[in-house]
Amino acid sequence: MLNIFLGFVCFTLLSFLQPSEQLISNSTNSKLYTSSVLGLTKLKEIEDLYIDELSDYMELLQQKMHTLKLYLEKLQLEKLENYEQRVQYVSNPLKAFGLLRRTHQDWPKWHNYTKSDIGAAKLIAMEQLLAKAPGNDDMMEAYKGMHRIEEVYDLEAADMAKGLLLGKQYDAKLSTAECLALGDYMFNQSEFARAAKWYRLGLYYNTEYSNDVFKQIYGFESDEIRKMFLIARIKGGSVDDVPIYLRELSHGPHTPLWKSEKGIPSAYQEGCWGRLPRRRDLTCRYNFTTSPFLRLAPLKMEMISLDPYIVIYRDVLSEQEIRLATDQSNFKLMDEVWTYENKDMMERISTAGMIYLKEFANVNQRIEDMTGLNVSLSEELQIVNFGLGAHLAPHGDYVNLTQPSKLATLFTKLGGDRLVTVLFYTSDVELGGATLFSKLNITVWPQKGSALIWYNLDRSGRPDVLTEHCICPIIVGNRWTLTQTLMEWDQMFKRRCL
Ligand SMILES: *[C@@H]1O[C@H](CO)[C@@H](O)[C@H](O)[C@H]1NC(C)=O
Ligand SMILES: *[C@@H]1O[C@H](CO)[C@@H](O)[C@H](O)[C@H]1NC(C)=O
Ligand SMILES: *[C@@H]1O[C@H](CO)[C@@H](O)[C@H](O)[C@H]1NC(C)=O
Ligand SMILES: *[C@@H]1O[C@H](CO)[C@@H](O)[C@H](O)[C@H]1NC(C)=O
Ligand SMILES: *[C@@H]1O[C@H](CO)[C@@H](O)[C@H](O)[C@H]1NC(C)=O
Ligand SMILES: *[C@@H]1O[C@H](CO)[C@@H](O)[C@H](O)[C@H]1NC(C)=O
Ligand SMILES: *[C@@H]1O[C@H](CO)[C@@H](O)[C@H](O)[C@H]1NC(C)=O
Repeated sequence: MLNIFLGFVCFTLLSFLQPSEQLISNSTNSKLYTSSVLGLTKLKEIEDLYIDELSDYMELLQQKMHTLKLYLEKLQLEKLENYEQRVQYVSNPLKAFGLLRRTHQDWPKWHNYTKSDIGAAKLIAMEQLLAKAPGNDDMMEAYKGMHRIEEVYDLEAADMAKGLLLGKQYDAKLSTAECLALGDYMFNQSEFARAAKWYRLGLYYNTEYSNDVFKQIYGFESDEIRKMFLIARIKGGSVDDVPIYLRELSHGPHTPLWKSEKGIPSAYQEGCWGRLPRRRDLTCRYNFTTSPFLRLAPLKMEMISLDPYIVIYRDVLSEQEIRLATDQSNFKLMDEVWTYENKDMMERISTAGMIYLKEFANVNQRIEDMTGLNVSLSEELQIVNFGLGAHLAPHGDYVNLTQPSKLATLFTKLGGDRLVTVLFYTSDVELGGATLFSKLNITVWPQKGSALIWYNLDRSGRPDVLTEHCICPIIVGNRWTLTQTLMEWDQMFKRRCL
């Protein structure tokens, strides 16, 4: 019991992404679908199963209807209109006998069939799937992810709704229900201009629910949506401008709202867009020097920054290694919950924790080749998969041992601070998801098979605040990474100039 407990604590504290003192991570088993593409894929599979069950259920209902229809057609041949007809009918013994036999023998059987709960098994199966539906926490994470994508990349709600993301048209769009849900969320977040835009979009696309049945199920009332739009506009503006807001309602969703001009993009936004000016002083070369092995098989190295030392190596993972590091059957993802001290903020990232597969010995060997530092070949690596609009706020990977804390005590015992971070990208990301060194204005785009390496400590072993970095929200794509951190004391005799 004690061992298990200690194991868990160490596991939690050693997780790579657990960075400096202002961030506390907490691994939980609570499975959110939203926190990883892997989880979202599972949810999609559940929906697909539900679609199959519903389809089977309807097939059974249809069969029943078809059978009942045959019965009804047969009965309708005997249907009479008035007293005279009926007298004539039962006066014929053949018909009277038929009537008696039918009502005595057939009727109960058919009624039995009519009442039968055909498809009950399918309903139960559907209920079981329903029990796996995402809860509130999941939905909130999804809202947050969408909010981040809209805000950080400065996307227009109207573009997002029709699948235009950062100038790229996708075969996807948001329905009225989704626009209205985002409107409600933005409203609750006091993002009134955004809320108004989403409400107006909901109204604009409302035609798709003109059907009364849908209205009954979704409960959209156009007047109610108009009211929400106006409340959002007034809360974000002034009652005096209601006539203007009313006019806005009749405009298409692409017409900008009055007084809602965009501000100047922040350095963070520029960084996440990859629009920061490119540094010119850096070079690309093959690295032959760190180990004898490299003289035979040089690695493609790009220098990103000299101080702090940041480099990228290209094509350093094999397809096989990438497959292992992204194959869910090799590990179990946990939700890593990040809490920010002094901030009412929580983030979730899905991680497999620290895992070791024997095939990763080669990866650790390559890290030695790339860094010239000492990596125990059985060192665990961390696998991380990101979910809808996932990001990670700026943080340093160092612990800062000179600042007394539980973590510092533990790290001092274990091997010192995190000297080097080696981040392998095990997937490409289609849109967004850059690693941004926020104090250096350096944007690094994930590229499958690349390794980004940097020193977290300066030459005298102090935390280097310039290595602060963040992960920009992922817009489109499945972001996987594999991370190794090299601890300070292990490199005592390897790193020169310390
Ligand atoms: C970690 O999670 C547990 C259980 O959910 C909770 O009691 C604890 O307060 C959390 N710790 C932090 C630092 O958030
Ligand atoms: C009605 O169906 C039930 C269950 O299938 C069966 O036990 C019962 O005998 C049936 N009754 C008649 C009148 O067919
Ligand atoms: C917004 O807040 C209301 C009232 O607190 C709540 O009922 C609703 O679920 C919230 N909606 C969203 C999308 O956050
Ligand atoms: C980073 O970019 C911002 C905005 O473009 C600028 O104000 C800042 O000086 C830059 N910092 C560095 C270190 O280049
Ligand atoms: C090769 O990489 C090592 C460790 O990153 C570095 O010290 C060395 O300067 C690099 N060699 C060249 C030629 O860039
Ligand atoms: C790496 O470190 C381990 C443990 O400190 C040590 O046993 C090993 O000899 C070192 N290897 C190299 C190549 O320095
Ligand atoms: C590390 O801790 C020391 C002592 O508390 C403090 O002076 C220093 O600013 C800290 N460094 C960082 C990067 O937080």
